[in-house]
Amino acid sequence: MSEQPIGVVGAGTMGQGIAQVLATSGFVVKLYDVANEQLGRARSAIDKGLGKRVAKEKLSDADREAALARLDTTTTLDALQDCEVIIEAAPEQPEIKEKLFRDLSRLSHDAILASNTSSLSLTRLAAVSERPERVVGMHFFNPVPVLKLVEVIRAEQTSDATVARIESLAKALGKTAVPVGDSPGFAVNRLLVPMINEAAFLVQEGAATAEAVDEAMKLGAAHPMGPLALGDLIGLDVCLAIMEVLQAGFGDPKYRPCPLLKRMVDAGYLGRKTGRGFHVY
Ligand SMILES: NC(=O)c1ccc[n+]([C@@H]2O[C@H](COP(=O)([O-])OP(=O)(O)OC[C@H]3O[C@@H](n4cnc5c(N)ncnc54)[C@H](O)[C@@H]3O)[C@@H](O)[C@H]2O)c1
Repeated sequence: MSEQPIGVVGAGTMGQGIAQVLATSGFVVKLYDVANEQLGRARSAIDKGLGKRVAKEKLSDADREAALARLDTTTTLDALQDCEVIIEAAPEQPEIKEKLFRDLSRLSHDAILASNTSSLSLTRLAAVSERPERVVGMHFFNPVPVLKLVEVIRAEQTSDATVARIESLAKALGKTAVPVGDSPGFAVNRLLVPMINEAAFLVQEGAATAEAVDEAMKLGAAHPMGPLALGDLIGLDVCLAIMEVLQAGFGDPKYRPCPLLKRMVDAGYLGRKTGRGFHVY
């Protein structure tokens, strides 16, 4: 357990989950967002998330109260000055993240700055920071309280000590850290999203329906969920953005996004979040 607080930047889907897991693991957490109302939503979501764990008898009422008491929210970036590690989970936009990494590295010379980016180059984020050796990727998976993996991504500039600290933090959160180089899509998205894209090609070509593709992969490859249902869960816009990152990063035509996937995104059929994707919800 750390005596210094851990900062979380961005209180959206991922920031909420990361803050919840940190607080339940005994860390004092400072959750920062530019939007005050988002911090209110995050606190309620974390309260609800902890409530579910109490209902499942995975957490006592007293531990839930203690976890909530360890969570502090703020709209002032300066409040993160005393954090030992700051985990950034702001929107996946290079300008936003680069500004944050510049500002955070000026704020604290000692903090380790970890990004939860799904696709951006950690080496570029490190390059804009004043302490590039302290920048690293710490890629959690959604839902954070449930999924055990953390990809630890080493930028060209990252020091061994920074990697070691993030690996030990992941362990303290009950996660398994897997080291991955700073390569587009890292490991999981590079394997998973092209599979979803290829499944979209099967549907586009009329080779199989979405239901057939998903049934085949569940029964034939023991996947708990078919690739198109998974794409709907992740968000087809997110899947398309990841394919574009892979295509741009590798310049290899095997990563071309499926035209049907593009059309669905243009139509606003983004999956579960809009009620319609490859399946209807
Ligand atoms: N959602 C996923 O399944 C998932 C999985 C792994 C990684 N990621 C990555 O995690 C990061 C966050 O994704 P998300 O889905 O939680 O996004 P989200 O849109 O749910 O949340 C982003 C939050 O950042 C806040 N924000 C905007 N500008 C900010 C700034 N300048 N400083 C601080 N906060 C700011 C927003 O108010 C919002 O609360 C992204 O880099 C994404 O690629 C997402």
